[in-house]
Amino acid sequence: MKYLRRFFYFLIGLFVLIALLLVWATQFAPARFRVNIPIQSILGGIDANEQQVKQRLSAPAGFSISLYASGVTNARVLRFSNTGDLLVSTPRTGQIILLKKDANGDGRADESRVLIEGLNRPHGIDFYKDWLYIAESNGFGRIRFDHQNGKTIGDYQRLVTDIPDAGNHWTRTLRIGPNQKIYVSVGSSCNVCKEPDTRRATMLRYELDGSGFEIFASGLRNSVGFDWSPIDGKLYATDNARDLLGDDFPPDELNQVERGKFYGWPYAHGNRVADPEFGPKNAEIIANSTTPAHHFRAHNAPLGMGFLTDKRLPSQYQNIALVALHGSWNRTTKDGYKVVALSWSNHGQITEQPFVTGFEQDGHVVGRPADVLQGPDSAIYISDDFAHAVYRVSWGEQPRSTGLTQTKTHAKTITPELSLNNEDTLADYRAGQNLYQQHRCARCHESAEQPTAIALKQLSARYDLASMEQMLQTPTPPMPTFSLSSDQRRQLTTFLLLEY
Ligand code: HEC
Repeated sequence: MKYLRRFFYFLIGLFVLIALLLVWATQFAPARFRVNIPIQSILGGIDANEQQVKQRLSAPAGFSISLYASGVTNARVLRFSNTGDLLVSTPRTGQIILLKKDANGDGRADESRVLIEGLNRPHGIDFYKDWLYIAESNGFGRIRFDHQNGKTIGDYQRLVTDIPDAGNHWTRTLRIGPNQKIYVSVGSSCNVCKEPDTRRATMLRYELDGSGFEIFASGLRNSVGFDWSPIDGKLYATDNARDLLGDDFPPDELNQVERGKFYGWPYAHGNRVADPEFGPKNAEIIANSTTPAHHFRAHNAPLGMGFLTDKRLPSQYQNIALVALHGSWNRTTKDGYKVVALSWSNHGQITEQPFVTGFEQDGHVVGRPADVLQGPDSAIYISDDFAHAVYRVSWGEQPRSTGLTQTKTHAKTITPELSLNNEDTLADYRAGQNLYQQHRCARCHESAEQPTAIALKQLSARYDLASMEQMLQTPTPPMPTFSLSSDQRRQLTTFLLLEY
């Protein structure tokens, strides 16, 4: 008996030891010893995610929220086809993903497949009849789309390829307006500066064939989302204000965008408050700028937005706009990280209320909403480029049982391939370290240089060589894109994965 009990304690001890070792090896070990397994795969990946949605995210009473698709790498802009398939742009992988309509009614997309690949950081997508338009970092193009079969026909045609895309803000959002013209938003190349190229920090407009270029509106630092109001047909756009003026200034904006108007950046922010650097001496420009329709709290980072019109929703949810607040990166405490509802009073006053919350709790982030779109089934779809997911928020449905059938996704492969014992790797590591210094990455990533710096940590648990290279080509603003050769990208990536 005594021996049996001892043996039992020994087993428990062994188990605890193995568990601790596993946690250490995947999370805390110095990079070069670290075992490269994403912790989710130990916990069962998709199921853990589904549980997180249930436990963490909440929507107003009467709505239920569920996971519609997972494993959609850095999911960004959403668009429905005429037959209810959901297209998602994934700029980091250069692809447009098609999530097949939920025909079996289990609350999940029936399949996830690559519709188009090899694009240059595709972001904005929209349909005009049987054309699918796609905005890439430096322009846009179109391809024929068979709505019935969810397939493209023929080749992708690039229509415009000269939009500047160096520096910061490489995402291009594209929508076809009710007047059948193409609207493309182009963010600034910097945090705050006088742009040498007048097409930066604007909204551009074109005809459907890519002709007829005009600068539709300017002084918009980075308008990632826009939509037309069902109330009066006016165009509204979110705008991300500049950084590094403290935790609570300047506000991010919602602007009512009109042709020929100027919205203040870089000279002024919010209600014509002068920029400390560019404001003085430009009082006249500031006086002639158009002020925002609504202020979001500073650094909330409003991205995608969409109006709700479906008559099946309760009346207080009709004609409101939902906005995805991606969340702050440089506030002392995190803010944003939710989807909010904007409603218009009869006098045009806008009120903001939370809609989906829980992406961030006590500084712990499980997701970052990027786009919001009403579906043909009256449900609301939200993309998340942090948790690689699309959520579905439905009105008046019973919450579904979880995880019975799962979206078929293409499995990711993680490659634990780096070792400093290898001479080539060592050479790459050293070259990468030099690049890190040359490009002064420390000014944003090491707290010695900036109090609100983003520490680089646990990179090798979350990235492999390929996804880290993709991250450098498609960084989340305010991180700029650096012009690096493919060799340099590999070197920097090697350094980052071994070091952090
Ligand atoms: C202007 C500031 C800035 C500079 C300069 C900058 N970064 Fe960043 N970087 C950021 C911010 C902010 C984020 C986080 C973005 C987010 O997710 O909100 C980030 C994210 C990252 C990440 C991903 C971190 C993670 O945990 O997923 C890596 C890796 C990275 N940067 C590497 C670099 C390298 C390498 C350089 C230099 C070549 C660099 N950065 C220069 C601001 C900067």
